[in-house]
Amino acid sequence: MKKLINKLYRNRVLEPEEFKELIGNRSPELSEYLFEKARELGIQNYGDDVYIRGLIEFTNYCKNDCYYCGIRKSNSKAERYRLTKEQILQCCEVGYKLGFRTYVLQGGEDGYYTDERMIDIIQSIKQNHPDCAITLSLGEKSCETYKAFFDAGADRYLLRHETANEEHYGRLHPSQMSLQNRKQCLYHLKEIGYQVGCGFMVGSPYQTTDCLVEDLLFIKELNPHMVGIGPFIPHHDTPFADEEAGPLELTLFLLGIIRLMLPSVLLPATTALGTINPRGRELGILAGANVVMPNLSPTDVRSKYLLYDNKICTGDEAAECRYCMQKRMESIGYHVAVSRGDHKAMDKSI
Ligand code: SAM
Ligand code: FES
Repeated sequence: MKKLINKLYRNRVLEPEEFKELIGNRSPELSEYLFEKARELGIQNYGDDVYIRGLIEFTNYCKNDCYYCGIRKSNSKAERYRLTKEQILQCCEVGYKLGFRTYVLQGGEDGYYTDERMIDIIQSIKQNHPDCAITLSLGEKSCETYKAFFDAGADRYLLRHETANEEHYGRLHPSQMSLQNRKQCLYHLKEIGYQVGCGFMVGSPYQTTDCLVEDLLFIKELNPHMVGIGPFIPHHDTPFADEEAGPLELTLFLLGIIRLMLPSVLLPATTALGTINPRGRELGILAGANVVMPNLSPTDVRSKYLLYDNKICTGDEAAECRYCMQKRMESIGYHVAVSRGDHKAMDKSI
């Protein structure tokens, strides 16, 4: 199996059957071999820097009904909230003082935030902090809307494809949603000039190794700047309440594979990874990730943005999360960078 890892390291891709064989035959020893190579490539590209992104979860209203998601429309028990522009700007102020130079605005697909309102928010953040990057994670929009947000100053867009397999996509989402549209959005975003992130949940219900292979091949084809992967974790008020969470070791293994496929990709060790294991984010970095996303949302709304059960950091102040992360990264020999942390190919300061 080490041969396959060496081949992946050299060629940046494998044949579908080879990916399947590699994933199917993973072992602790093989993982360690993969992670060493992944760390080597991460360090070659970004040194021992870990980039931090300040996550602002600004609305938990959503018109969609994804079966896995705790803030889906049909969850009548979710206590809904929206942040005002002033509250969002206040989160950015706090974040800036803590050394954040990227803000991630994430939310459900909420019609309250019209293009006009979003453009005003984006422009205001940029006016206050011209040295910061804005990442949006607002779901599927028209190409015109994406372009308008980009022209207003948004730099990056996260839109996980969730699964690259049509049938699997259909088992995770109601029929109104389509994988084809999601993929189309990702191509539009890239064309417009965003730094783009796709991604998927590891261990989501009905996921097979073949699905994972399709995910990897789609990622290779899209060639994104960022890839967000984290374990699926059940939420008690969703149709998947009784499903099992995705495994830690498989998530780490896939992080390692993705680093080998795309050596300069921005790869977060996600909050979900930190939720299924107390050292999940550190292990993620040691498997090849190079980004973490501490929470900047106001403490009184944190526990309402509950995508899955037992989400960590819901009671902590932004400053606590920031310094906790610094200690965690230093404990494994990495350091938190005060920087926009652009993808290498898009970094105008180099
Ligand atoms: N509405 C936007 C969108 O669709 O991209 C952004 C918000 S959505 C909640 C962000 C991501 O959370 C999704 O892409 C999904 O992969 C992840 N997510 C949702 N429910 C989850 C769960 N139960 N476990 C792990 N991740 C989950
Ligand atoms: Fe819309 Fe989860 S169903 S954010």
